[in-house]
Parts: sequence; C-alpha cells; structure tokens
Amino acid sequence: MFNENNFDNKVAIVTGAGSGMGMAASKLLAMNGANVILSDINKESIVLLEKELIDLGFNVKAIQGDVRYPKEVNNIVEQTVSIYKKINILINSAGILKPPTKVTEIDETEWDLVMDVNLKGTFLCSKSVLPIMQLEKWGRIINFSSTAGRSFSMVGGIHYTSSKAAILGFTRHLAKEVAEYGITVNAVCPGLVDTEMIRSSMDEEKIKNYAKSVPIQRLGTKEEVAELVNFLVSDKASYITGASFDINGGYLMI
Ligand SMILES: NC(=O)c1ccc[n+]([C@@H]2O[C@H](COP(=O)([O-])OP(=O)(O)OC[C@H]3O[C@@H](n4cnc5c(N)ncnc54)[C@H](O)[C@@H]3O)[C@@H](O)[C@H]2O)c1
Repeated sequence: MFNENNFDNKVAIVTGAGSGMGMAASKLLAMNGANVILSDINKESIVLLEKELIDLGFNVKAIQGDVRYPKEVNNIVEQTVSIYKKINILINSAGILKPPTKVTEIDETEWDLVMDVNLKGTFLCSKSVLPIMQLEKWGRIINFSSTAGRSFSMVGGIHYTSSKAAILGFTRHLAKEVAEYGITVNAVCPGLVDTEMIRSSMDEEKIKNYAKSVPIQRLGTKEEVAELVNFLVSDKASYITGASFDINGGYLMI
C-alpha cells in the first residue's frame, strides 16, 4: 500500500532550525502537517521563522537551546512534551564548521567546540528524546553528516571531518539499538549546499570553482535536502534504518 506524505499529529523537533537546511526541513514538515519545534541557539532566527509559519497557518513553536548542554537540550524536550505530550521525529541539523587549519595548528578549544556542537549535540538530543519516542513505538531520527564524513572536507578542518564521520558510526549503532521500538535512524550526507554556513566560509569565486567540479555543475539547495529528509521521516521510508544518504550532485561516487 502507498502512503501519502502526511505528518498530521506527528511532533518533530528540528535543531539548527534558524538557518539553512534545518530551516528548510522545518518548513516542509510543517507544510506536510507536522507540529514542529523550531530549535536553535539563535533565538531571533527561530522567533522570526515561528511568526512566518504561524501566519501561514502552520503549527510550530520556537524553543531556544544550545545542543552542547544537557540542561538546555532537556529543556527543549520537556517543553515539547508539556505542549504536545509526545515526540515522533528528531532532526539533528545544528552544526558548525571551522576552516581547514592544519591539524598542528588547531587548538584544543576549537576541536572541542566542533565536536561538542556536531557530535555531542547529536548524542544529547537523541538521548533526551528517546525515552519519549520509545513510548510511541514509532520514531524517526535524522542526523546531519556530510560528504566530509564519507571522504574529507574541502571547506572545514579535520575536526569537522572527524565529527561528521563519527556521526555515521553513531547513526548505525543507534539504529541497531532502537529498531525494536519502531524507531529508524538515518544520516544525510550533503555535498556543498547553498546556505549561510557555506556563504560565510567561501567567497563567490571559490563557490563558482567548486560548482564546476560537481558533475551537476552547481551547489545543492536546502530545499533539495529537505525533500530527502522529508522522505526519510515519512512512513514511506519504514524499512530504511542505519543508512546514510549521499546528496551531492555526483561529487562523490563511492
Ligand atoms: N551547507 C553545507 O554545504 C553542508 C554540507 C554538509 C553538511 N552540512 C551540515 O548540515 C547541517 C546544517 O548546515 P547548514 O548549511 O544548514 O548550516 P547553517 O549555518 O545555515 O545552519 C546551522 C544552524 O545551527 C545553529 N547552531 C549552531 N550551533 C548551535 C548550537 N550549539 N546549538 C543549537 N544550534 C546551533 C546555527 O545557529 C544555525 O542556525 C550542519 O550540521 C552542517 O554541518 C552542511
């Protein structure tokens, strides 16, 4: 039997919802009927998005939080449960990128920061939602890895590559642990996607040169990645877990 893309009554938490792919995924899930918690360290961006989506008639709520800290993550989860009584979908999109400084030049603080946001944040959010998700016997977790996690990063440093590779292992291991609860866990591995993260790391010239090296000859869009996320959290993807999905215009074919 085929299913419609209908997330009515589903409750989703999206981290990094204030920008880029997290924002695009939040919009698409809300358009498809989900109740979406828009979470980000940047309050202003999610409050603006909340207003935009509520004005369009969608059911969303902005809750600020820094994914590095258990207290803040638990607060997002507790507030979500107090409003909606359940959590069905978690999109771990919050992330940061630091430039490709040589390994001998990266200081420990910067290493920890990248690992804490990208990897520990994914762990803390998953850990916090899982007890609630398990009660529903249905759940979807999407982790943002990257082409960097499958190969190496052209834009970020070794800390970025390491964090994104670790997310792939985290995804597989968690998928095995929670499959019995009807929860699937998958990773997306975007190539260069036109978002604030890239615009603030590369100049126009560099972006153009990169685009030429991609078989599809351009950067990806955040909407294209949101469509993949939307599919993976739908009932249509019920037999997919522990997998990682390349979405990179053919940049990496392995
Ligand atoms: N843009 C790309 O080319 C690309 C490619 C592959 C993977 N990714 C990954 O995709 C995800 C989304 O990237 P994007 O390009 O949309 O980036 P973006 O910079 O546009 O958005 C990231 C969001 O995460 C938020 N954030 C940062 N630190 C946080 C923290 N500690 N707690 C909560 N929120 C925090 C930021 O405020 C921002 O709103 C990231 O994990 C990124 O590493 C991006």
